[in-house]
Amino acid sequence: MIVCSCNVLSDGAVRACLKDGPDCPRTPAQVHACLGCSPKCGRCARTIRSIMQAALQGALQDAVAEAGHACGTGCASSCSLVQFQTAGEGIAA
Ligand code: FES
Repeated sequence: MIVCSCNVLSDGAVRACLKDGPDCPRTPAQVHACLGCSPKCGRCARTIRSIMQAALQGALQDAVAEAGHACGTGCASSCSLVQFQTAGEGIAA
């Protein structure tokens, strides 16, 4: 599905540029730059941001599923993995 009509970017292209590491785009403008273009009208920003949030949520689920959670109770209140994991299990953090 085309999510940016100005640059003809698909949702798959947006997802493909979201990789682990410090070079991962953090804003829709950075996604455009990663894909070799720049935002024009900006109508796609909200959709691209939604795709980025869904990808992050999926990555967190994968990380919790693969590694489990090994943190002690000291970090539990501020750890995003614990908050995500316990929210998914219906347990208040
Ligand atoms: S639709 Fe993406 S910049 Fe216009």
